[in-house]
Amino acid sequence: MQLQLKTWQFVEEYLKSRTGIIIPIGSTEQHGPTGLIGTDALTAEMIGRGVGEKVGALVAPTIPVGMAQHHLAFPGSMTVRPSTLIALIRDQVMSLARHGFTRFYFINGHGGNVATVTASFSEIYAERSMERLSNQPSIKCVLRNWWESAGIKSLSRELYGNAEGSHATPSEVALTWYGYPQTMQQKPMEPRIAPTGGFADAEDYRRNFPDGRIGSDPNLATPEHGKRIYETAVADVARDYEAWVSR
Ligand code: NI
Repeated sequence: MQLQLKTWQFVEEYLKSRTGIIIPIGSTEQHGPTGLIGTDALTAEMIGRGVGEKVGALVAPTIPVGMAQHHLAFPGSMTVRPSTLIALIRDQVMSLARHGFTRFYFINGHGGNVATVTASFSEIYAERSMERLSNQPSIKCVLRNWWESAGIKSLSRELYGNAEGSHATPSEVALTWYGYPQTMQQKPMEPRIAPTGGFADAEDYRRNFPDGRIGSDPNLATPEHGKRIYETAVADVARDYEAWVSR
């Protein structure tokens, strides 16, 4: 259930029986020679909406631009500074908390967001803890990376083995081709499986990973794989949401 497609009266009624909301968060950044710049936001949004339908939870608008400074040497990539993202998440959570939401379940599509989103949760908790009125309900936030569920880990191992890698992965590319089949394309890539390793700033990243991929062979992706990945991720994340939100 998308928040944007509901009325305020609907939300008021919803809050009488539930206080959880799903917030997809992604990134807008290069995903190798064939992957879409929107991959991380599109995948988080697809899975977030699927989970929201399955569990009957509201889904907030997707946060489309994340912490992706290391991709800025590739055209089209965008970032917000960690401090900006911390403030953005804090403001969005506090807006919803004002109405009575208390459980904020972030579905994440981008590894580079993890440290900053976690820091934002600490900022929110600190602010609540320092308020004088202490008898308001506790806020809880959690971040889940869709690609880390048990079902997805074993599926990506089965489909791609050591060619999954960690950026422009065949799993995420397959998922976008399932959701947006008109964008599918394949290109020869050299080496077939991209190098692995670390990076610091944007220039360093492009020097180490000239075509943008890390450790992956996205040419293994198919839209049929994408459908299996979508269904597995939605089932796993929905189960996790229901267990977490009732705690
Ligand atoms: Ni990605």
